Amino acid sequence: MPAIAYLECSRCGAHVSAEIPQTLCPVCPVAPAGALYVRYDLSSLLGSSPAAVVDTSSGGWKGMWRYRAVLPDVEPVVTLGEGWTPMLASRRYPGVFLKEEGANPTGTFKARGLALAVTMLRHYGIKKAAVPSAGNAAGALAAYAAAAGIEAHIFMPRDVPFSNFVEATAYGAEVTLVDGLISDCARIVAERKDAEGWFDVSTLKEPFRVEGKKTMGYELVEQLGWEYPDAVFYPTGGGVGLIGMWKAFDELEELGWVKKGKRPKMIAVQASGCAPVARAFDHGDDVSVMWQNAHTFASGLRVPKPYGDSIMLEILRQSGGVALALSDEVILASLLDWARHEGIFLSPEGAAATAAYDHLLATGFLKASDRVVLFNTGSGLKYTDLTAEAMKLKRP
Ligand SMILES: Cc1ncc(COP(=O)(O)O)c(C=O)c1O
Ligand SMILES: [Zn+2]
Repeated sequence: MPAIAYLECSRCGAHVSAEIPQTLCPVCPVAPAGALYVRYDLSSLLGSSPAAVVDTSSGGWKGMWRYRAVLPDVEPVVTLGEGWTPMLASRRYPGVFLKEEGANPTGTFKARGLALAVTMLRHYGIKKAAVPSAGNAAGALAAYAAAAGIEAHIFMPRDVPFSNFVEATAYGAEVTLVDGLISDCARIVAERKDAEGWFDVSTLKEPFRVEGKKTMGYELVEQLGWEYPDAVFYPTGGGVGLIGMWKAFDELEELGWVKKGKRPKMIAVQASGCAPVARAFDHGDDVSVMWQNAHTFASGLRVPKPYGDSIMLEILRQSGGVALALSDEVILASLLDWARHEGIFLSPEGAAATAAYDHLLATGFLKASDRVVLFNTGSGLKYTDLTAEAMKLKRP
């Protein structure tokens, strides 16, 4: 099992020690400082088949920890049973697979990143964590922090899905509802963290949430028989999953577990009420511009200025992918379509991905024979209030 060799700055390439907790690159010559990638010495695994390395041993649920050989070698692991989620074949579209992340603890893919981040907080002996969140990362931090005996301080918009407020409160987190967006929450955490002694687990501002989310990349390739699909549709807010999956593809190729040269087109899906990445992609820009008056019932996509925008834009272009934005009406129509014809209650974010697939099939960007993975990043059950409102549905 490889220990962490070093942390590598995504911007200036500096190598930083993982012996002590790190946030952003401490030596970047110009702001904004780069996010840090976890790098391992994989040489001991080279030449091994995945069957020899991936932990499929019987006895207990391995979840995403089946990939422990390519995750930080620390104990104890804080787990609630995250990962190894179903890859469901669509009943209607032969090439379409839905990665059902709603099966995770706390009902979303955020569990993967926070399981690893909180495991590392335990490893470093950190006792207090804070997070600005669009809602689901807050729920996940609250759960894993409770399991680890760590304080969780959560800042999220007042109008998050009610489930996010209830779960975080039930897990015993200190919850602050903010009149604003995740960017306002981030400002509050940044202002208070030093005085309060909080470790900031904001998106990309510590190295391990990406590392947990990279397991989605390993999983989708394993579940498709160690082959890449033609495209991956990812509902994009802060972009941690997109960045994590691309890192997984780098590692899979280094390990020789998947053939080089045929990576999936990465499709970043946003809502037209908050689409900074799609706009920057369309304009050919390298960074996004803060989106004003962000609004959409796909609340996880309300990230007006993602910290990792430049990394994402580079990945999209390198992969031959695209970023696009769908209206709430189109997202809701796809949500209901999948509920009624596939028996799957998507989150609005997941429904943005299914709607984007329909769109790219209609435009000819993709063919019906293409094998694609659509991420349902969360369970529709976390959004009953927002989805009911979008459906104009009231309790009779
Ligand atoms: C259900 C859901 N999907 C997608 C996203 C966007 O995720 P990311 O920040 O990794 O782009 C979020 C973020 O809150 C979310 O909760
Ligand atoms: Zn740097």
